[in-house]
Formats: sequence, C-alpha cells, structure tokens
Amino acid sequence: MTNFPVTRPRRLRKNKLIRDLIAETSLSEKNLILPIFIKDNINDIEEIPSMPSVYRYPPNDKLIKYVEESYDNGINYVILFGIPAYKNDIATSAYDKNGVIQRATKILKETFDDRLIVITDECTDEYTSHGHCGIVVQNNGEAYVDNDESLKIHAKIALSQAEAGADIVAPSSMMDGVVGAIRKILDENGFQNTLIMSYSAKYASTFYSPFRDAAYSKPAFGDRKSYQMDPRNAYEALKEVNLDIEEGADIIMVKPAHTYLDIIRLVKDNFPDYPLAAYHVSGEYSMIKAAAINGWINEKIAVLEISTAIKRAGANLIITYYANDIAKWLKEGLPF
Ligand code: PBG
Repeated sequence: MTNFPVTRPRRLRKNKLIRDLIAETSLSEKNLILPIFIKDNINDIEEIPSMPSVYRYPPNDKLIKYVEESYDNGINYVILFGIPAYKNDIATSAYDKNGVIQRATKILKETFDDRLIVITDECTDEYTSHGHCGIVVQNNGEAYVDNDESLKIHAKIALSQAEAGADIVAPSSMMDGVVGAIRKILDENGFQNTLIMSYSAKYASTFYSPFRDAAYSKPAFGDRKSYQMDPRNAYEALKEVNLDIEEGADIIMVKPAHTYLDIIRLVKDNFPDYPLAAYHVSGEYSMIKAAAINGWINEKIAVLEISTAIKRAGANLIITYYANDIAKWLKEGLPF
C-alpha cells in the first residue's frame, strides 16, 4: 500500500461523474417489489392510518389502475397481502377459490399477463380469528401453534394461490418444513414452474406493527416468538436459510431489512449463489414517513440512502412500500 501523498482517496470523489464511474452499488426499479394490501368487500381505496400514503385496494378496477400506474413507473413485481371477508380458526378464507387474493391474482394476471410478476404472501395470520401463522391447539392448557398441522393448511393455501395464477408464492409463517410441504404439493399438481420465495430469516420484530394495523392481523393472544426468530441471533439465520434451500426455495429472504443489515451480509456471504430478498418492513417505512411529514428528514435522500445500504449489504431484491417513489426518484438522478 502506498501512502499519502501518492494515494489520495479524494481523487475518486472529485466530481459526480467520477463517483458514478466507480460506485459499487446500484439501485434499479427492476429489483424492487411493491407490497399491496387487497381488502374484500370494499369499493374504494382506504388509506392506512399508521402508513401514510399506503392504501388498501379492492380487488377491482381500482387495483388495476394502481398497478398500471406502478407499471408505468417501471415496477413489474408486486407482492399481495389479503384482508379477507371472514376469518375463522383454520384460515378457510385463505384457500377459498373465490378468496380475495385468488380474485386479485386472477384479474392482475388476466390484465397484465407476462408483463407483471405476481407474488402472493402465503400465511394464515390475516385469515385466522386468533391471528397466528398456523393452527392453534391446546397443549397442557396452553395455546400453541402446532407445526405439522399448520403445514397442511399452508400447502393448501399455496396451491390455491398457484391455481389462481401466482408466479411466486412466498411462505411467511416460519413453520418448520413449510417450504418442503409447498414444493411437494405444487409439484404434485403440475406447478413445477411456480417459484418459492421464502421468508427464511424472519425475526420477531416490533417493526411489523403498522402492517398488523393495515391487515388487522395482530395476534388475539400471545406473540409470535415461538416461531419467528429471536433478534439476538445471527448465525441461526444460516440454519434457517440452509433448510429452506434444501427444501426447494428459489429465493431466500431476510426480514426486516434496515435493522438487520448484518444478517443480510452474513446470508449473502454464506449463500452467494442464491438470490436474496430483503423486506424493508412497515415500521421501517412509517418511521421515515413520520420524520418526513414533520420536516425532520429529507425523505427522498433518506429512502435512497437506506435502500442503497440494503443492496450494499448484499440484498439483490428489496420489498418496499417506497417502490413507486424510488422508481420516480431514480429518474431524477441519485443524490449521492
Ligand atoms: C405475515 C406477514 C407479516 C408481514 C409480512 N408477512 C406480518 C407478521 O409477521 O406479523 C409484515 C410486513 C411488514 O411489516 O411490512 N403474513
């Protein structure tokens, strides 16, 4: 290594074109996935109070219009979350042929065909009266989410989503073996080409709170700590990712993103040959939004900086409520 004055790192920062020339990380709208909340039995869009500028959409022309606008911004990927007409203990509305997600998937694929990749979140929490990501049983007088009973329901939900036309199903329950159960039922029914994007390292995070308002999916009792990961653990993420890959996951995920950049880096370094998604979650969105609304932060620069950090840490794809904004801002040029 040569030293100053021969080596002057500032030479590489001297103007924007030189900085752009050597930038290690780039953001593109092609690597962004837009989450959309779809609610049954409404006619118009509804703003989500804890997520300003994010709306719930009815599965009709209002949804088509929003996806068309997003498409015009350059967004080709959406992940759908359902808010069903009814809930019960066993999430029947999640695998109903005429369920809200099945209808939304159908009309989107009919309208956009191969111009749009439709991803469906596969879980039960929005569809169960208890709000848990599986089937609840009594275990010595205590309510417990039964893993293997839950797998049967998750497989059914995934199959009904694939039948509705989903390109990618995304299991988010953190049940052991869920990826394998889904791969098996999809393959047995002729859906060998339906991809699985697994929420592999999903932490028990308070940053999902606005989402639970948005989807009315707060657990009615207890919490999700017996299945989602402990925020104190890093290496355990490698075990989860490894299992998902062995079970057939095509794309792996770390969630949340901004608060778990170390996990993104760890997973990417250990599984460099797997596409890695990172979910910039609702609470991470709302924190920036709240600061921006108050005039405490420049929203555009903050979002572009954080999104760049998520990619720099090793994520190939970002699921983000800011997808449309980022796509528009990228056209204006980066602030770096
Ligand atoms: C489960 C699911 C959740 C999120 C995505 N999928 C909620 C949870 O685990 O409580 C949260 C996403 C976010 O906070 O933006 N269906």
